[in-house]
Amino acid sequence: MANQTFKLNTGQEMPALGFGTWQSEPGKVKEAVSYALKEGYKLVDCAYCYGNEDEVGQGLKDAFDSGVKREDVFVVTKVWTTYNTRVEVGLDKSLKSLGLDYVDLFLVHWPLLMNPEGNDDRFPKLPDGQRDIIHDYNHVDTWKQMEKLLATGKTKAIGVCNYSKRYLEQLLPHCTVIPAVNQIENHPALPQQDIVDLCKEKGIHIMAYSPLGSTGGPLMQAEPILKVAQKHNVQPSTVLLSYHISRGSTVLAKSVTPQRIKANLEIIKLDAEDVKLLQDYSDELTKTSKVQRFVYPPFGIDFGFPDKS
Ligand SMILES: NC(=O)c1ccc[n+]([C@@H]2O[C@H](COP(=O)([O-])OP(=O)(O)OC[C@H]3O[C@@H](n4cnc5c(N)ncnc54)[C@H](OP(=O)(O)O)[C@@H]3O)[C@@H](O)[C@H]2O)c1
Repeated sequence: MANQTFKLNTGQEMPALGFGTWQSEPGKVKEAVSYALKEGYKLVDCAYCYGNEDEVGQGLKDAFDSGVKREDVFVVTKVWTTYNTRVEVGLDKSLKSLGLDYVDLFLVHWPLLMNPEGNDDRFPKLPDGQRDIIHDYNHVDTWKQMEKLLATGKTKAIGVCNYSKRYLEQLLPHCTVIPAVNQIENHPALPQQDIVDLCKEKGIHIMAYSPLGSTGGPLMQAEPILKVAQKHNVQPSTVLLSYHISRGSTVLAKSVTPQRIKANLEIIKLDAEDVKLLQDYSDELTKTSKVQRFVYPPFGIDFGFPDKS
């Protein structure tokens, strides 16, 4: 099942399972990317903001040198918020670091603008230590620039990340090109069903990030997850990854540990009883306002997520 793909609204086939690179430390990520691709991952998720694209690029090169074909790898990267008024500059920087002449998908990382002329390339701050954010900004303008990128051939598709239902509803009436993907935090403790349903209706594919609850999250000890894992005699991580593929989404798993990278390739088919158990768990957390979001950078902006608004 790890080889399964989903068709995007561009006609491209996107792998159901992808390899994440956030917080993959320098000194480890080259080996991790190269190992993952040689073991059979077909999608690598990168970002300028992760500060490790040079090394990810070395890992890609290593895999290509050993016979993995560029056209068999779906490479995703993202424009960082300090580049949201100059997305092509952001893409060019990523392509240079990755050693590629195109990516398969380019995403808007977050719909806000941090000062492009601030005191840091990625995380500019004001004298009082707050993040240096330009509030007079409309995220639709970034999307209009993204649409123009398609003609350059430097990316085969464009999409967004971290778009709530409210933000999508602001964006969609202005789109000439509907985003191919919305990459969001997603797992049974943060089902974000309103966004998933809207994306499905509009033909926007969901890429689920932090499926294991990111680094140090308690998801892998949650009782319903353990129960399904015991029933199928698999790791909780296998259940958490398989959950997304069962519901028609691509899932990203990050690891720099070889045995985990390999183990995460195991995807199982969840049956109706498993799906109900996980759905009941999600519904209960939603009903009691106990959903858990593990990744929420301190931008101080209301992005329209009900659990944060
Ligand atoms: N668009 C966005 O804003 C956004 C935000 C967050 C993430 N993402 C993307 O989504 C990817 C995945 O999300 P994530 O990195 O937050 O978290 P994740 O994949 O949910 O979890 C990664 C953590 O789980 C550990 N792990 C991996 N496999 C395991 C296993 N089988 N058993 C036990 N522990 C395991 C990893 O440790 P080791 O590495 O030490 O093995 C790491 O600490 C990211 O890497 C990134 O590419 C995108």
